[in-house]
Amino acid sequence: MNTLKLERQGRVVTVRLHRPHVLNALSAELLAELLDALRPLDTDPDVGAFVVTGSEKVFAAGADIKEMAGKSAVDMAHEDYFSGWEEFAAFRTPKIAAVSGYALGGGCELVMMCDLVIAGESAVFGQPEIKLGVIPGIGGTQRLTRLVGRAKAMDLILTGRTMNAREAERAGLVSRVVPDDRITTEAEQAAEAIASYSRTAVTAARECVDRAENSSLSEGVLFERRVFHALFATEDQKEGMSAFLEKREPRFTGR
Ligand code: CAA
Repeated sequence: MNTLKLERQGRVVTVRLHRPHVLNALSAELLAELLDALRPLDTDPDVGAFVVTGSEKVFAAGADIKEMAGKSAVDMAHEDYFSGWEEFAAFRTPKIAAVSGYALGGGCELVMMCDLVIAGESAVFGQPEIKLGVIPGIGGTQRLTRLVGRAKAMDLILTGRTMNAREAERAGLVSRVVPDDRITTEAEQAAEAIASYSRTAVTAARECVDRAENSSLSEGVLFERRVFHALFATEDQKEGMSAFLEKREPRFTGR
Protein backbone atom coordinates (compact mmCIF):
# COMPACT_ATOMS: atom_id res chain seq x y z
CA MET A 1 0.00 0.00 0.00
CA ASN A 2 1.31 3.45 -0.95
CA THR A 3 -1.03 5.74 0.91
CA LEU A 4 -2.02 3.98 4.13
CA LYS A 5 -0.61 2.02 7.04
CA LEU A 6 -2.76 -0.68 8.51
CA GLU A 7 -2.35 -2.25 11.91
CA ARG A 8 -4.51 -4.87 13.56
CA GLN A 9 -4.55 -5.41 17.30
CA GLY A 10 -7.04 -7.98 18.46
CA ARG A 11 -10.45 -6.90 17.16
CA VAL A 12 -9.40 -3.33 16.30
CA VAL A 13 -7.97 -2.25 12.94
CA THR A 14 -6.18 1.11 12.82
CA VAL A 15 -5.76 2.83 9.46
CA ARG A 16 -3.22 5.63 9.28
CA LEU A 17 -3.49 7.95 6.27
CA HIS A 18 0.04 8.33 4.95
CA ARG A 19 0.75 10.83 2.18
CA PRO A 20 2.92 13.21 4.21
CA HIS A 21 4.25 15.20 1.22
CA VAL A 22 0.71 16.44 0.47
CA LEU A 23 -0.68 16.54 4.03
CA ASN A 24 -2.57 13.28 3.51
CA ALA A 25 -4.59 14.69 0.60
CA LEU A 26 -7.27 12.18 -0.33
CA SER A 27 -6.42 10.91 -3.79
CA ALA A 28 -8.27 8.32 -5.88
CA GLU A 29 -5.47 5.87 -5.07
CA LEU A 30 -5.91 6.47 -1.34
CA LEU A 31 -9.65 5.87 -1.58
CA ALA A 32 -9.12 2.69 -3.61
CA GLU A 33 -6.55 1.39 -1.12
CA LEU A 34 -8.79 2.29 1.82
CA LEU A 35 -11.77 0.46 0.34
CA ASP A 36 -9.70 -2.57 -0.72
CA ALA A 37 -8.19 -2.81 2.77
CA LEU A 38 -11.38 -2.35 4.77
CA ARG A 39 -13.94 -4.15 2.55
CA PRO A 40 -12.96 -7.69 3.63
CA LEU A 41 -12.46 -6.58 7.24
CA ASP A 42 -15.93 -5.03 7.38
CA THR A 43 -17.51 -8.47 7.14
CA ASP A 44 -14.90 -10.25 9.26
CA PRO A 45 -16.61 -11.35 12.48
CA ASP A 46 -13.29 -11.04 14.31
CA VAL A 47 -13.08 -7.30 13.61
CA GLY A 48 -15.10 -5.05 15.91
CA ALA A 49 -14.01 -1.49 15.12
CA PHE A 50 -11.93 0.67 12.80
CA VAL A 51 -9.81 3.62 13.94
CA VAL A 52 -8.93 6.14 11.21
CA THR A 53 -6.11 8.56 11.91
CA GLY A 54 -3.45 10.69 10.27
CA SER A 55 -0.21 12.19 11.53
CA GLU A 56 0.41 14.60 14.40
CA LYS A 57 0.35 17.61 12.05
CA VAL A 58 -2.51 16.62 9.82
CA PHE A 59 -5.45 14.27 9.66
CA ALA A 60 -6.13 15.14 6.01
CA ALA A 61 -5.99 18.50 4.21
CA GLY A 62 -8.80 17.60 1.83
CA ALA A 63 -9.27 15.97 -1.52
CA ASP A 64 -6.17 16.02 -3.70
CA ILE A 65 -6.34 19.40 -5.42
CA LYS A 66 -3.53 18.57 -7.87
CA GLU A 67 -5.36 15.45 -8.99
CA MET A 68 -8.65 17.30 -9.53
CA ALA A 69 -7.46 20.64 -10.86
CA GLY A 70 -7.33 19.80 -14.58
CA LYS A 71 -10.46 17.66 -14.82
CA SER A 72 -13.49 18.72 -16.83
CA ALA A 73 -17.09 18.49 -15.63
CA VAL A 74 -17.53 15.55 -18.01
CA ASP A 75 -14.51 13.76 -16.50
CA MET A 76 -15.95 14.30 -13.03
CA ALA A 77 -19.39 13.05 -14.03
CA HIS A 78 -18.10 10.02 -15.96
CA GLU A 79 -15.79 9.02 -13.12
CA ASP A 80 -18.58 9.83 -10.64
CA TYR A 81 -15.71 11.38 -8.73
CA PHE A 82 -15.93 10.90 -4.93
CA SER A 83 -18.81 8.39 -5.17
CA GLY A 84 -16.58 5.65 -3.70
CA TRP A 85 -16.57 7.48 -0.37
CA GLU A 86 -20.17 6.43 0.13
CA GLU A 87 -18.95 2.83 0.30
CA PHE A 88 -16.66 3.85 3.13
CA ALA A 89 -19.53 5.68 4.86
CA ALA A 90 -21.71 2.59 4.55
CA PHE A 91 -19.29 0.17 6.24
CA ARG A 92 -21.14 -1.36 9.16
CA THR A 93 -18.11 -1.70 11.42
CA PRO A 94 -18.00 1.27 13.82
CA LYS A 95 -15.48 3.85 12.64
CA ILE A 96 -13.61 6.09 15.06
CA ALA A 97 -11.71 9.13 13.80
CA ALA A 98 -8.65 10.15 15.83
CA VAL A 99 -7.82 13.65 14.65
CA SER A 100 -4.92 15.96 15.32
CA GLY A 101 -3.99 18.91 13.13
CA TYR A 102 -5.88 19.79 9.96
CA ALA A 103 -9.10 18.04 8.99
CA LEU A 104 -10.13 20.22 6.07
CA GLY A 105 -12.43 19.74 3.10
CA GLY A 106 -12.54 16.02 2.32
CA GLY A 107 -10.64 15.45 5.59
CA CYS A 108 -13.50 17.00 7.56
CA GLU A 109 -15.97 15.06 5.42
CA LEU A 110 -14.12 11.83 6.21
CA VAL A 111 -14.34 12.69 9.93
CA MET A 112 -18.09 13.18 9.56
CA MET A 113 -18.46 9.70 8.04
CA CYS A 114 -17.10 8.23 11.27
CA ASP A 115 -19.22 7.29 14.28
CA LEU A 116 -17.03 8.72 17.03
CA VAL A 117 -14.60 11.60 16.69
CA ILE A 118 -11.72 11.91 19.16
CA ALA A 119 -9.97 15.24 18.55
CA GLY A 120 -6.63 16.43 19.86
CA GLU A 121 -6.32 20.00 21.16
CA SER A 122 -4.57 20.96 17.89
CA ALA A 123 -7.34 19.72 15.60
CA VAL A 124 -8.67 22.21 13.06
CA PHE A 125 -11.86 21.53 11.13
CA GLY A 126 -13.26 23.31 8.11
CA GLN A 127 -14.74 23.19 4.64
CA PRO A 128 -12.56 25.69 2.74
CA GLU A 129 -13.63 24.58 -0.77
CA ILE A 130 -15.28 27.94 -1.44
CA LYS A 131 -11.78 29.42 -1.57
CA LEU A 132 -11.01 27.09 -4.49
CA GLY A 133 -14.10 28.12 -6.46
CA VAL A 134 -16.02 24.96 -5.59
CA ILE A 135 -18.10 23.50 -2.76
CA PRO A 136 -17.74 20.43 -0.53
CA GLY A 137 -18.20 17.31 -2.63
CA ILE A 138 -18.03 14.33 -0.27
CA GLY A 139 -21.21 15.10 1.63
CA GLY A 140 -20.00 18.17 3.54
CA THR A 141 -23.00 20.40 2.84
CA GLN A 142 -25.30 17.61 4.01
CA ARG A 143 -23.50 15.98 6.94
CA LEU A 144 -22.13 19.22 8.43
CA THR A 145 -25.59 20.80 8.35
CA ARG A 146 -27.12 17.78 10.08
CA LEU A 147 -24.35 17.71 12.70
CA VAL A 148 -23.90 21.37 13.58
CA GLY A 149 -27.08 23.01 12.26
CA ARG A 150 -27.72 25.41 9.38
CA ALA A 151 -26.31 28.56 10.97
CA LYS A 152 -22.85 27.19 11.68
CA ALA A 153 -22.74 25.09 8.53
CA MET A 154 -23.44 28.18 6.42
CA ASP A 155 -20.79 30.13 8.34
CA LEU A 156 -18.13 27.45 7.76
CA ILE A 157 -19.03 26.61 4.17
CA LEU A 158 -19.62 30.15 2.89
CA THR A 159 -16.69 31.87 4.64
CA GLY A 160 -14.31 28.91 4.51
CA ARG A 161 -13.21 29.67 8.08
CA THR A 162 -11.95 26.90 10.32
CA MET A 163 -12.93 25.93 13.84
CA ASN A 164 -10.74 24.55 16.58
CA ALA A 165 -11.34 21.36 18.54
CA ARG A 166 -13.26 23.05 21.36
CA GLU A 167 -15.63 24.87 19.01
CA ALA A 168 -16.10 21.66 17.04
CA GLU A 169 -16.94 19.80 20.24
CA ARG A 170 -19.44 22.47 21.31
CA ALA A 171 -20.98 22.38 17.83
CA GLY A 172 -21.49 18.61 17.93
CA LEU A 173 -18.91 17.56 15.35
CA VAL A 174 -16.51 16.07 17.90
CA SER A 175 -17.23 13.47 20.59
CA ARG A 176 -14.27 14.19 22.89
CA VAL A 177 -11.26 16.52 23.01
CA VAL A 178 -8.08 15.11 24.52
CA PRO A 179 -4.38 16.12 24.53
CA ASP A 180 -2.84 15.47 21.10
CA ASP A 181 -0.58 12.69 22.34
CA ARG A 182 -3.63 10.83 23.68
CA ILE A 183 -5.77 10.64 20.55
CA THR A 184 -4.72 7.22 19.32
CA THR A 185 -4.78 5.65 22.77
CA GLU A 186 -8.17 7.17 23.55
CA ALA A 187 -9.58 6.13 20.15
CA GLU A 188 -8.18 2.60 20.47
CA GLN A 189 -9.59 2.24 23.99
CA ALA A 190 -13.01 3.30 22.75
CA ALA A 191 -12.61 0.92 19.80
CA GLU A 192 -11.65 -1.97 22.08
CA ALA A 193 -14.65 -1.30 24.32
CA ILE A 194 -17.01 -1.25 21.32
CA ALA A 195 -15.35 -4.33 19.84
CA SER A 196 -15.83 -6.22 23.11
CA TYR A 197 -19.63 -5.87 23.00
CA SER A 198 -22.10 -7.91 21.00
CA ARG A 199 -21.47 -7.22 17.32
CA THR A 200 -25.19 -7.66 16.67
CA ALA A 201 -26.14 -5.12 19.34
CA VAL A 202 -23.48 -2.66 18.18
CA THR A 203 -24.71 -2.85 14.59
CA ALA A 204 -28.30 -2.42 15.78
CA ALA A 205 -27.36 0.59 17.91
CA ARG A 206 -25.58 2.28 14.99
CA GLU A 207 -28.50 1.69 12.66
CA CYS A 208 -30.95 3.13 15.17
CA VAL A 209 -28.85 6.25 15.81
CA ASP A 210 -28.42 6.80 12.07
CA ARG A 211 -32.17 6.35 11.62
CA ALA A 212 -32.68 9.48 13.75
CA GLU A 213 -31.41 11.54 10.81
CA ASN A 214 -33.83 10.14 8.32
CA SER A 215 -37.10 9.60 10.11
CA SER A 216 -39.69 11.32 12.25
CA LEU A 217 -39.43 10.87 16.02
CA SER A 218 -42.38 8.48 16.17
CA GLU A 219 -41.05 6.38 13.26
CA GLY A 220 -37.59 6.34 14.80
CA VAL A 221 -38.84 5.34 18.23
CA LEU A 222 -40.92 2.54 16.72
CA PHE A 223 -37.91 1.35 14.66
CA GLU A 224 -35.78 1.36 17.81
CA ARG A 225 -38.39 -0.57 19.80
CA ARG A 226 -38.73 -3.24 17.11
CA VAL A 227 -34.94 -3.62 16.89
CA PHE A 228 -34.80 -3.82 20.69
CA HIS A 229 -37.41 -6.61 20.62
CA ALA A 230 -35.49 -8.45 17.89
CA LEU A 231 -32.29 -8.45 19.98
CA PHE A 232 -34.09 -10.80 22.38
CA ALA A 233 -33.60 -13.45 19.72
CA THR A 234 -29.83 -13.27 20.21
CA GLU A 235 -27.64 -15.41 22.45
CA ASP A 236 -25.78 -12.23 23.37
CA GLN A 237 -28.87 -10.71 25.01
CA LYS A 238 -29.28 -13.84 27.15
CA GLU A 239 -25.55 -13.87 27.94
CA GLY A 240 -25.37 -10.12 28.74
CA MET A 241 -28.33 -10.14 31.09
CA SER A 242 -27.40 -13.48 32.74
CA ALA A 243 -23.84 -12.24 33.30
CA PHE A 244 -25.17 -9.11 34.99
CA LEU A 245 -27.45 -11.11 37.26
CA GLU A 246 -24.70 -13.63 38.05
CA LYS A 247 -22.25 -10.77 38.75
CA ARG A 248 -19.69 -11.92 36.15
CA GLU A 249 -18.23 -10.54 32.92
CA PRO A 250 -20.27 -11.38 29.81
CA ARG A 251 -18.73 -13.36 26.93
CA PHE A 252 -20.33 -12.10 23.72
CA THR A 253 -20.09 -14.10 20.52
CA GLY A 254 -22.02 -11.88 18.14
CA ARG A 255 -24.67 -14.59 17.80
N1 CAA B 1 -4.32 18.59 -2.16
C1 CAA B 1 -3.10 18.47 -2.70
N2 CAA B 1 -1.97 18.93 -2.12
C2 CAA B 1 -2.10 19.54 -0.94
C3 CAA B 1 -3.35 19.69 -0.30
C4 CAA B 1 -4.49 19.18 -0.96
N3 CAA B 1 -5.71 19.26 -0.43
N4 CAA B 1 -3.15 20.36 0.87
C5 CAA B 1 -1.82 20.59 0.96
N5 CAA B 1 -1.18 20.09 -0.13
C6 CAA B 1 0.25 20.12 -0.43
C7 CAA B 1 0.71 21.54 -0.75
O1 CAA B 1 0.46 21.82 -2.11
C8 CAA B 1 2.17 21.46 -0.41
O2 CAA B 1 2.83 20.82 -1.47
P1 CAA B 1 4.29 21.38 -1.96
O3 CAA B 1 5.18 21.13 -0.78
O4 CAA B 1 4.61 20.54 -3.15
O5 CAA B 1 4.12 22.84 -2.24
C9 CAA B 1 2.21 20.51 0.77
O6 CAA B 1 0.97 19.78 0.75
C10 CAA B 1 2.30 21.25 2.09
O7 CAA B 1 1.23 22.19 2.14
P2 CAA B 1 1.44 23.72 2.58
O8 CAA B 1 2.79 24.20 2.19
O9 CAA B 1 0.28 24.49 2.06
O10 CAA B 1 1.39 23.55 4.17
P3 CAA B 1 1.00 24.66 5.24
O11 CAA B 1 1.32 24.05 6.56
O12 CAA B 1 1.58 25.97 4.89
O13 CAA B 1 -0.60 24.82 5.12
C11 CAA B 1 -2.87 24.00 4.94
C12 CAA B 1 -1.45 23.78 5.52
C13 CAA B 1 -3.49 25.24 5.60
C14 CAA B 1 -3.69 22.76 5.28
C15 CAA B 1 -2.79 24.22 3.42
O14 CAA B 1 -1.99 23.19 2.85
C16 CAA B 1 -4.10 24.21 2.72
O15 CAA B 1 -4.84 25.18 2.79
N6 CAA B 1 -4.44 23.08 2.00
C17 CAA B 1 -5.64 22.95 1.21
C18 CAA B 1 -6.87 22.84 2.08
C19 CAA B 1 -8.10 22.74 1.19
O16 CAA B 1 -8.42 23.64 0.45
N7 CAA B 1 -8.82 21.60 1.28
C20 CAA B 1 -9.98 21.35 0.47
C21 CAA B 1 -9.57 20.56 -0.75
S1 CAA B 1 -10.90 20.38 -1.91
C22 CAA B 1 -11.88 19.22 -1.22
O17 CAA B 1 -11.58 18.62 -0.23
C23 CAA B 1 -13.17 19.02 -1.96
C24 CAA B 1 -14.11 18.10 -1.28
O18 CAA B 1 -15.15 18.45 -0.78
C25 CAA B 1 -13.81 16.72 -1.20
